[in-house]
Parts: sequence; structure tokens; C-alpha cells
Amino acid sequence: MVLEGGEGTGKTTQADRLAKRLSETGRRVRVVREPGGDPFAEAGRELLLGPIPRTPEAEVLAFNAMRAQLLVAVVRPLLAGGTWVIADRGRLSTLAYQGHGRGVDLEWARSVCDVTVSLCPPDLEVVLAVDPAVSAARRSARGVTDRFEAADDHFHQRVNEGFATEAARAGVAIVDGTDAPSTVTERLWHTLTPRLG
Ligand code: TYD
Repeated sequence: MVLEGGEGTGKTTQADRLAKRLSETGRRVRVVREPGGDPFAEAGRELLLGPIPRTPEAEVLAFNAMRAQLLVAVVRPLLAGGTWVIADRGRLSTLAYQGHGRGVDLEWARSVCDVTVSLCPPDLEVVLAVDPAVSAARRSARGVTDRFEAADDHFHQRVNEGFATEAARAGVAIVDGTDAPSTVTERLWHTLTPRLG
């Protein structure tokens, strides 16, 4: 399962809560994050979230290179061994941030992401969305920790609209993340139940 959404939507909290709930049902679960997940991809994360200027096209390819590393080196073996994997971000983040946020040609970005994700396609993607005022407040409470969080409100607005557009286009469910964490976990659990067998 891939959890997607802009900054301050509560993805990371929800990934951990879902993992706990799944493991309480006796399943082995791992949460992974993008970019990152193994030594090579964590080194790429430093570069990607750092300040060195780059073109948005190079950013698409670099996020996808780190995605390929995570999918092939970490996620595939976990799934093959029967572990459930919850990924904090995936291809829709590239389309929302680099495509809608930074203006990369969307057809091109989608084709790059499609090639990467074909290495290990997700069984389920969900976008967490919150009211723009709520995500702005959560972002400012958290402070700036990387180059994307430092971007202005217009950028984050384009990103959030991008998630909505790409989710609709790809038939991905959007879950409202504005309420209390336990309520949001319940909603996400509901999207998972058909897969629990
Ligand atoms: P992270 O600290 O994981 O952010 P969050 O806690 O909000 O998930 O940092 C990941 C950052 O990288 C985030 O700002 C979004 C950005 N990003 C992209 O721009 N494109 C991508 O393809 C991915 C996976 C992340």
C-alpha cells in the first residue's frame, strides 16, 4: 500500500498507525519512506532534499532512481517473504511535486513513473488530503526541514491540487485526513479491509 499526500496531511502518522493495526492482526509489516529506505536511497534522499540547485526534470529522474532502488532492493524481497509493506509516498508525489508543483511536462513524468513502478506495482494507493488551512497550519507548526517544505504556499497549493487531479485520473481513492488521527486511521483501514482476506 502507498500512502500519498502533501505536507501536513498526516501520512507518516497514519502509516505507523496502520502498520500497528495490521501487525495486531498477526501480519508482518514494514513501513518504508520515499525517498529513502536503504543506504543508497538514503544517500539520494540527502541530495534530493538538500539545497543544491537542479532542474525539475533531473529531479523526476533522481526520485525515480531512488524509487527503483527501494522497490527492487527492499520492497520486492519483503513482499516475496510475506511481509506487508506500507510506503510513505510513491509515484503520485513525483507527479504532484515535480509535475504540478515545478511544471515538468506531465506526460513525460507519468511515463517515467510508469516505467519505474512497473518494477513492483502497488496493490493499493491512497491520497490523504486535508483542508488547505489545516495543512498550512501544520506545516508552519513543524517549521522548515527540507527544500520542499521551504517552498511558498502557492507551490503547496499546486501540489495539493496536483494530488487531487492525479488521483482522479488514476482512479485512486482520496481520504479526508482533517479529523482526529483515530478517525482517519479508521477510514484508511476501511480501504484496506477488502484485501485482508
Ligand atoms: P519527507 O520528509 O519524507 O516529507 P513528508 O514528511 O512531508 O513526507 O520529505 C520528502 C519530500 O520530498 C517531500 O517534501 C516531498 C518530496 N518529494 C518529491 O518532491 N517528489 C517525490 O517523488 C517524492 C517521493 C518526494
